[in-house]
Amino acid sequence: MNISHKLRSLLQNTESICVLTGAGISAESGVETFRGSNGLWSKLKPEELANFDAFMRNPELVWEWYNYRKEIIHHVKPNPAHFALARLQEMVKDFTLVTQNVDNLHRRAGSTNVLELHGNIERSYCIGCGKFVANVEVSLENKVPHCQSCNGIIRPDIVWFGEMLPEGVFEAATEAADRCELFLTIGTSAVVYPAANLPITARKHGAYVVEINLERTEISHTVHETLLGKAGEILPQLLKIKEE
Ligand code: OAD
Repeated sequence: MNISHKLRSLLQNTESICVLTGAGISAESGVETFRGSNGLWSKLKPEELANFDAFMRNPELVWEWYNYRKEIIHHVKPNPAHFALARLQEMVKDFTLVTQNVDNLHRRAGSTNVLELHGNIERSYCIGCGKFVANVEVSLENKVPHCQSCNGIIRPDIVWFGEMLPEGVFEAATEAADRCELFLTIGTSAVVYPAANLPITARKHGAYVVEINLERTEISHTVHETLLGKAGEILPQLLKIKEE
């Protein structure tokens, strides 16, 4: 792996790093990505599963799908890429991890204060009173769960297409992108906004932006460096440089 002198020097010296992750970082754990020839959205229709109107039309179907995904995620484990980021957090004073993933694998690897832009599959909330419900309280059977307080329908705490991001989370991510010296965008196709704005914002504010992906993406032309390969192999190498 050809790691530039600039990236080496930043890894060794900077105290301010912001990281954006996408589905690709969990691919080596066995969680399917969304796009690409084998991605979830090549087999399923997001407008039927990841959309509020679709949920109201057919909550059983949407819950069936999320329960299926929850079951998979429950059985997979964080991989070396997740662990490398958790370790990096301990070594860098101003470290922010922003993720589009809902799989909880960053937390399970030991990362704390993760900014989850698209929610978390292990959490749900009532569309009537807004009360949050812990994962365990939602039946894994394919029934639609109802709120114990107001009997409203409970939905997964996932940001669906056309919905706003959770309040304050994107703002905190933008602030971290604005102030960091090194920005890493990892395992994301960078086509979903506003998440895909973060590396662009970081670059505008003077950060060195590095992309880690199996292939070039929509934002490759705007980053300083693209490291082509598996996140689970590249991130441990970057960590090693930091630890030298
Ligand atoms: P995508 O499925 O769009 O992109 C995954 C990216 O990861 C692709 O660019 C792959 O090339 C790359 N990739 C795959 N395996 C990799 C590996 N081992 N190492 C490094 N890179 C790898 O996923 P996201 O960009 O996360 O939203 O998608 C963004 C959002 O679209 C998701 O959060 C989801 C989806 O609709 C919601 O569910 C709200």
